[in-house]
Amino acid sequence: MNVLEKLRKIAQVFEESGIENPAKEAEILIAGALPIGPSELYRGDRELSREEASFLSSLAVRRAGGEPLQYILGSVEFFGLKIHVGRGVLIPRPETELLVEETISLLAHRRPPFSILDLCAGSGCIALALAKRFPEAEVYGTDASEAAMVYATQNARENDVRNVRFRLGNLFDPVRDMRFDCIVSNPPYIRREEIRTLQREVRDFEPVEALDGGPDGSAFYRSISKGAPRHLKDNGVLALEIGYGQSREVERLIRQAGFQDIRIIKDFSGIERIITGMGNPVRSSGLTRADML
Ligand SMILES: C[S@@+](CC[C@H](N)C(=O)[O-])C[C@H]1O[C@@H](n2cnc3c(N)ncnc32)[C@H](O)[C@@H]1O
Repeated sequence: MNVLEKLRKIAQVFEESGIENPAKEAEILIAGALPIGPSELYRGDRELSREEASFLSSLAVRRAGGEPLQYILGSVEFFGLKIHVGRGVLIPRPETELLVEETISLLAHRRPPFSILDLCAGSGCIALALAKRFPEAEVYGTDASEAAMVYATQNARENDVRNVRFRLGNLFDPVRDMRFDCIVSNPPYIRREEIRTLQREVRDFEPVEALDGGPDGSAFYRSISKGAPRHLKDNGVLALEIGYGQSREVERLIRQAGFQDIRIIKDFSGIERIITGMGNPVRSSGLTRADML
């Protein structure tokens, strides 16, 4: 069988399994699994060995069963980094790159070295992207999942990022006595009731502890707003990813915790996705964020 025939067959299986973009996913699966360039995919003259064909079939069966492509291929690109993922760790999402971008723009004019804490670090994607962008910064990532911390450590090694440390534990516990110039987080924020309505790729394969934001989805925002002032230096920055419809509640929480100069940023779909604020302002100076930049 040649590669084009296999591509068509896999696309057909994907279509029958209800996968949204069957042809595109078949293409990505084959190109990601075999050393085959995009131009070779649509040529009828690239024969597959028996081993290659059965390898592709085994991966296609997994995808048809709902397993996300990123777990099957084992990695995803995030902010120019190759991030390894697999069962037990959340797959980094494109909108989280926006959180990284906003955090970078808030820190870009500060004089290094500074320190950054990524709470709920998962695969380490946010901490690693920031550590790479600011090589003089000291970056910490914490997460309660052992599997996530194993992936994060591997991702630091494989991307040759040395100014980052990952620590296992509940939220601020692993950095109990430390203060940072910036706290960033993409915490679990799905309402518990809503988890069973998510698409099967997420609901049945991604770790529930990476999704579950408690009965109202805001449990982590309450804990973070409460803990952040104790862990931020003067004029420290807080940057959070938020879910659909959560901006008002999270704004209220962080304002109540003393954060000022709050900004809400929309994602590519027009959804309010990122919220930032400045904490522990040096009150006597009357400085605003604009003065600090
Ligand atoms: C939405 S995922 C974000 C992962 C990663 N930062 C990203 O953006 O792809 C949330 C993460 O929070 C972690 N988590 C859940 N409960 C936690 C807790 N109590 N303390 C620390 N991390 C927790 C999960 O293990 C998961 O890795």
